[in-house]
Amino acid sequence: MDDTEVAIAPVDLAARVDEALAVQAVAFGLDETEVAVRRHIVLRHLLSLGARAFAATTPDDRLVGFVYGMPNDRTHWWSTVVEPYLRSEGHAAWLHDAFVITELHVHPDFQGRGVGRALITTITDGSDLPKSILSAIDTESPARGLYRSLGYTDLARRVHFPSAPRPYAVMGAPLPLRRAPGTRN
Ligand SMILES: CC(C)(COP(=O)(O)OP(=O)(O)OC[C@H]1O[C@@H](n2cnc3c(N)ncnc32)[C@H](O)[C@@H]1OP(=O)(O)O)[C@@H](O)C(=O)NCCC(=O)NCCS
Repeated sequence: MDDTEVAIAPVDLAARVDEALAVQAVAFGLDETEVAVRRHIVLRHLLSLGARAFAATTPDDRLVGFVYGMPNDRTHWWSTVVEPYLRSEGHAAWLHDAFVITELHVHPDFQGRGVGRALITTITDGSDLPKSILSAIDTESPARGLYRSLGYTDLARRVHFPSAPRPYAVMGAPLPLRRAPGTRN
């Protein structure tokens, strides 16, 4: 990645939620109704204890990628959904002392340049927790490739979230995340 082009820095994501969701809409595929629903969810998430967010921005301050997450709270909806799946695989301990990557998205025009890798390594490097967990659609995708290259392994597969049509995989990695040879982030 050319450092002069895209900068990674902490962001007040609540203030830039519409820009972030516009990126997510095109990167991940959300329609207008889904964006409206996500908006409420993101704003609520950002109030969680220890929630942090980073943005990737161009020199003219266009937001082209973002990541946010927080220490796992076992009472949160996401954790309660994945817990039985992890428990049945003997991985329930991953829900304790883990930093959850809630969302990570990079605008398609800026993908494949190391922005996603820089966002996730930057946010997890700022956590003093020993591990990180996340969920990703259970298919071979750039996201799954990125997570594996950083040391995330599958903790459970075919995880069904109510309302999501496609199954997810839950993945976990020790922190700090593994660096691929030849990458700076
Ligand atoms: C996943 C995502 C954030 C990655 O961002 P990115 O900036 O393109 O990723 P990077 O350029 O940092 O690539 C990092 C790694 O991802 C993997 N990767 C990236 N593009 C890939 C592709 N087309 N196919 C396979 N692996 C790919 C590779 O492991 C790559 O490492 P390498 O460059 O050393 O080979 C981006 O593809 C995205 O926003 N996708 C759509 C939304 C999404 O799925 N978000 C995750 C939800 S769980």
